[in-house]
Order: sequence, then structure tokens, then C-alpha cells
Amino acid sequence: MSKTIIISNRLPLQISIEDDKLEVTPSVGGLATGLKSFHKDGDSIWIGWPGLTKEEIPENLLEKVQSEAKKENCVAVNLTSDEIDGFYYGFSNRTIWPLFHYFMQYTESEDEYWQYYKQVNQKYADEIIKHYEEGDVIWVHDYQLLLVPNMIREQAPEATIGFFNHIPFPSYEVFRTLPWRDEVLKGVLGADLIGFHTYDYERHFLSSVSRILRYQVDFNEVTLPDRIVKVDSFPMGIDYKKFEDAALEHFKNTEKEQSELQQRLDHHLNATPNAKMILSIDRLDYTKGIAHRIRAFEYFLDKNPEYIEKVRLVMLAVPSRSNVPQYRRLKREIDELVGRINGKFSTVSWTPIWYFYRSLPFENLIDLYTSCKIALLTPIRDGMNLVAKEYIATRTDHTGVLILSEMAGAAHEMNEALIINPNDFEQVSAALKQAFEMPEEEQMERNKRLQKRLRRYSVEKWAQDFMKALKKTRENQDSFQSTRITEKVSEDIMEQFRIAKRKILFIDYDGTLVDFVDKPENARPDAELKELINELNSKEDTDVILISGRDKNTLGDWWQDIPVELISEHGVWMRKIDGEWELSENVKSDWMDAVRPVIENFVDRTPGTFLEEKNYSLAWHYRKADPELGEIRANELSNTLKELIANHGLSVLDGNKVLEIKSSDVNKGKASSKKLVGENYDFIFAIGDDWTDEYMFRELPETSYTVKVGIKKTSARFYVEGTSKVRKLLEKFKQNL
Ligand code: ADP
Ligand code: G6P
Repeated sequence: MSKTIIISNRLPLQISIEDDKLEVTPSVGGLATGLKSFHKDGDSIWIGWPGLTKEEIPENLLEKVQSEAKKENCVAVNLTSDEIDGFYYGFSNRTIWPLFHYFMQYTESEDEYWQYYKQVNQKYADEIIKHYEEGDVIWVHDYQLLLVPNMIREQAPEATIGFFNHIPFPSYEVFRTLPWRDEVLKGVLGADLIGFHTYDYERHFLSSVSRILRYQVDFNEVTLPDRIVKVDSFPMGIDYKKFEDAALEHFKNTEKEQSELQQRLDHHLNATPNAKMILSIDRLDYTKGIAHRIRAFEYFLDKNPEYIEKVRLVMLAVPSRSNVPQYRRLKREIDELVGRINGKFSTVSWTPIWYFYRSLPFENLIDLYTSCKIALLTPIRDGMNLVAKEYIATRTDHTGVLILSEMAGAAHEMNEALIINPNDFEQVSAALKQAFEMPEEEQMERNKRLQKRLRRYSVEKWAQDFMKALKKTRENQDSFQSTRITEKVSEDIMEQFRIAKRKILFIDYDGTLVDFVDKPENARPDAELKELINELNSKEDTDVILISGRDKNTLGDWWQDIPVELISEHGVWMRKIDGEWELSENVKSDWMDAVRPVIENFVDRTPGTFLEEKNYSLAWHYRKADPELGEIRANELSNTLKELIANHGLSVLDGNKVLEIKSSDVNKGKASSKKLVGENYDFIFAIGDDWTDEYMFRELPETSYTVKVGIKKTSARFYVEGTSKVRKLLEKFKQNL
């Protein structure tokens, strides 16, 4: 039976060794805590790192580590301490983590880290392949494994692969600074579906793909030479029921059954009934804004001294990535800050901050969530922030106020919280005051709405939605209407080609015989291509026609020594085999003076674009423009031109990064059909890559072999992935002449 293979750097279980004995504890962090319940319920295996380096596990316990992991359907990947240093503490947490959270000043670009990152990503990909069986769905998680999707694709081209990024994806302006940006994007694009927590991260990713790799992006789809990749946002939820039930159980406890922590909390609350506790929980990470939070709290106490002895900040920080210098520095900074502020405000019976630097068992987390009337979460940047959601889920009597940074992904869905900018101490302080004074009815009203939403969009629903979307993406790919030219399909076409008596091949030039280049004048045919076309055209029974939007002079010049028929400017001119050019009867050029200034105005306003003047058409090229601006301006120009040329027998052709204005009666469909008049071809083949070729695909007889280059919506019957495949196909024709 097919299964889901989950893969993330860290397993949901953490293995440690005490006195030669293995200890297994749950991992901390949004990914592990969130995904755990999806894994528990489903038919899945989870591949990842158990938290110890290979050197830390004695030989005799290696097997035991694996068997402990297996008990929870996990597979432990062993990483050496060098790998952990270079891949985990290095590239993952000194390069990607700070960069993706906009901490550019902390971002290190060491080639050595990058080499380890590639090596360990490959190790993970190889481990997946060991467990992969046809029909399985592979789900890769997070920034530590950005290269894995494509590494799997290389070994299992047909695999269904999803990727989810649990942290922000930064804006293009930030991402572009990464030296290995191309490789990273291509790595992720190995997936069929790529998920982010918010639409902003999604749009930043798409913008990087289109600007850096220059792949075509239509809404949320990226067209690669051989596949379409879908990108979407799925805000991760929590296991709502688990937190709600735990809170309900918690309130049933008698005093004796309560944890020691709860007893201490109650003691404090009972001693000062008017006092409130503010909760703060995070991994100790500079992205979480812990220092800002403490300073904002100081600001609040300075400004509102009446709250002294009435409020306490309960701060829980989980040790994290302490081998990275920034984290060690942060630890020192927080220690000092807490010390300073406690020193500044403490009274004989009161300290303003209780600070715990450790991981706590689930039960104690619930104690804290349920005992604190206010939660203050102020990340500077956070992919999602599940703590915010967990806090709300445990407020079973609906009271409590959540103050949440607008920089957390969760803020997008939690409008009813008090949303603040963590850099604005005035605002944080005002929010704290508002939280203290908020009437219970208002708290309940806000929380009920939040709870309704969190309950509905739980982690289970999140995972289901992602899986459904992944399945749908695959179905769409498979139902692609035209047929891919595989070995077998091309053999069938050749069979028909061999037996036919009169054959004609219409071949587009740019994007079909040669790749696009920055400057159109640099796309000259190479000698090998010229020879290939020459040979294809060498038999009496086979006519080859190069059919292009190019102007007659360029095309004529490039193919002057090859006796092949040419159709230029979409059919304005035809060059016969003897070299004579003939003008189509349908063209006119009296409109050009009126249209030229309009296009020139767009050239001036859109850097990177230019106007190409042909004999009977005008073309505006925007391939080198900023992709987003280019699309916007193309749309604008197309609309402007359509109004201008209405009723003049002209049309605007929307080509591959080019708009072309010409007589409506001239197009490749009309031009190619004209070649068939009075002839008895019994094998017709047409190949091309863009919109202008669609006229051919539609107008040629249905039995023709029409082929689109690239994966796009098309009326052609077949498709091939790119220009190198086109050449291979034409080579086949040559062999079968
Ligand atoms: P991140 O993924 O950046 O660590 P999240 O807020 O999304 O941040 O997730 C943190 C997870 O870790 C939550 O599920 C939370 O319950 C858990 N957690 C946070 N602090 C502790 C702690 N001290 N002990 C145990 N679990 C914790
Ligand atoms: C965040 C990341 C996770 C990571 C977790 C804990 O939630 O998105 O991928 O596992 O932090 O960090 P750690 O480095 O301890 O795995």
C-alpha cells in the first residue's frame, strides 16, 4: 500500500544518552510539534535527524537508536559532527535562517557550509529513495532541505513530491544576495507543489523565481521546461483538540494532583489577587524579539508605575542552536537584561520577571498557558508562531488577551488579537495597558472568534489541504491535453513519415530551433543546425519551411546559403527555394506612423524594452524588462493598442515576451495553409513555441502532427520540452528520410 514519506531535518523525537541509556523526549519547534499529530494518525514514515551526532552514539547503541525511532514510525539519519557543523550550524542556521528572517547582518556566505549543505541534502534524498516505492507521496519540510526535492526528482522522475517551507521566504531584494540563489530555487522547484504559511512568502518566492531564473510565472504556477509547479499558501494550524482537552483536564486536577509549577503559580496568584501574569514563550532565538520584549516591558513599567507589584512577566525560553555565536550572545544579553530590570524594579515581595531557560514537559506548558491572563509574543520575524495559537486553544473559559507581533505569520489569521509592531515600544506598552483593562466580555468575544477559526483550520485540516492540493496538481499534470513526445510516440510519428509520399515540415525559429537570447540579433543559426535543415530539405518528397515572425532581411541573411523556403514576419513575405522574395497580397503599412509613437512611449517608460520595426509590423519586446513590470505594461499596451487599431484590420499578437501589431489577415495559420493549396501532402508537421504558432496548429488539417515546444496550454496535439528535444526529433526525421 502506498504511504506518505515525511522528511525534515529534525525528527519529532529527540534522543539523548544518559549513563549508557537512551532517553527519548519530544522535540521542540513548530514543525515537529505541529506535524506530529498528522504523522501519528496516518500511514506515514518520518525520516530525520534524532539530535545526536554519529560520534556521540556508541557502536553498541546504534541499533537501539534505530529501534527507538522505529517504534514511532521514524527513520533516524545519522549525521557526523562535521556534517552537523557545516550543514546544520553552518549553512542552515548561519546562512539561510538569518537571511530568510531579514537578519542580513548575521548572514554568513561560506562556501564550506554550502558544500556540507549539498552533501547532507543528498544524504537525505538518498535515504528517501531507499524507502520510496511507486505510488508513495513524498513531503519534504523546511529550509534545511531546500535542495532535496530536485535531488529526489533526479532519481525518481515520476515521484509525487510536496515541499513546505516553515519559515518566511524573504523579498527578492534580500534573497538575491545569496550567492547560491539559482541552485536553491532549482532545488525547491523539484517539487510538484510548494507551500508557504502566508501569501506574502508565496509571492516573494514567485517573484524570485521569475526574476532570477526567468521562468514563466502565471498567477501561482511556474512553467519549467518539463513540468508545471504549483505554489500556494497553507497557514499551519495546531492540534486544537489536544490543547483544549489538556486544558479541560488541567482544571479537573485537585490541588494534590497539580504540578509543582502550578502550585507555585497559584501561590503567587492567591497572594496577590489583583496581579496578572504575562506569558512569553519561545525558543531562544534572535528572531523572536525577546530582548525587545523585555525592553518594552521596562518601558511599560517606567511609564505606568502603578503596575509595579501588580504584574509579572513569566518568560520561558528554550535553549536552541547554542553552537551558533549569535545565539550565545543573545543568551548573555537576555541574562543581563533580566538581571538589570529585576534589579531596577524588584521590591521585597516582588520580582517583575520570572525567567526559565529550559524545555518544559507538555503538562507545564499547559499550566502556564492556563494561568496567564495575557500572552505577549513579539517576534521581529516569524514564519508562523504556533505558541500564539496554542495559547488561545487552552483558554477554555474564553478569557485572556493575546498581544501578537504583526511580523508573525499567525498575525494574518488572528486579527482579533492585539496586533503590534514589536519595534514600537509605545504601542506595545499601550497594548499591555489595554490588555489589563479589557473587560472580560470583550476578551471572550475576541477569543471565541479566534477559537472558532483555529478549531476549524487545525493542523489536520492543514495537512489534508496540502495533500489534496498535491494530488490535484499531479492530476492536472497528468491530464495535460497534448501528448508528450516520448521515444515510443516519436517512433509512431516516424513510421507515418516513412510511409508518406509527400511531406511538409513547418518549423518555427526562435524558441524552437534556437533558445531565446538577450539580444535577438545574437540568435544566428549554428553550422550544425544549418546542415540539419539543409539535409532535411534535400529530398524531393519532403518540403521544409522555416516560418517565423522575424523580419525578412535577418532571416534571409542567416539562411542565404541554404536553399530552404522561408516565411518571414508571420507570413508577410515568402522566400522561394530560388531565393526570390514574394509579398503577401494582404499587407498594408499605412497605419504604422500612428502606432509607432504609442509604442515608443512604452519603451521610454519601461526599462529593458525596445521597439523592432519590420517592413509590415511593429514589435515591442519586453524580455529584458523586470518580469512583473513587463507583464503589467504589456497588458496596458495591448489594451491601448486594441482601442487604437479597432476596425483597421489590424491585430495585436501576444507572443513570447513580445507584442506585435500587424494586419489581421497575416498570420502563420494563413501562411501555412496557403502552402497546402493545390498540393497533396499526406504528412504535415508543424512545430513552434508561442502564441503566434497556435494559428498554425489550429488552421492546419486535423491529421497534421502539430507540436508545441514547452509546457503551456496549446491546441497542438503533441509537445516536447525544449529546443534540445526539438533537435533530437529533427535528427530522427533526417534518419528516416
Ligand atoms: P518555532 O517553530 O520557531 O520554534 P513556534 O511558536 O511555531 O516557534 O513553535 C514552538 C513550539 O515549541 C510550540 O509548539 C511550543 O509549544 C513548543 N515549545 C515552546 N517552548 C517550549 C518549552 N519551553 N518547552 C516545551 N515546548 C516548548
Ligand atoms: C523552527 C524551524 C524548524 C526547526 C525548529 C527548531 O520551527 O522551522 O525546522 O526544527 O525551529 O529548531 P532546531 O534547529 O532545534 O531544529
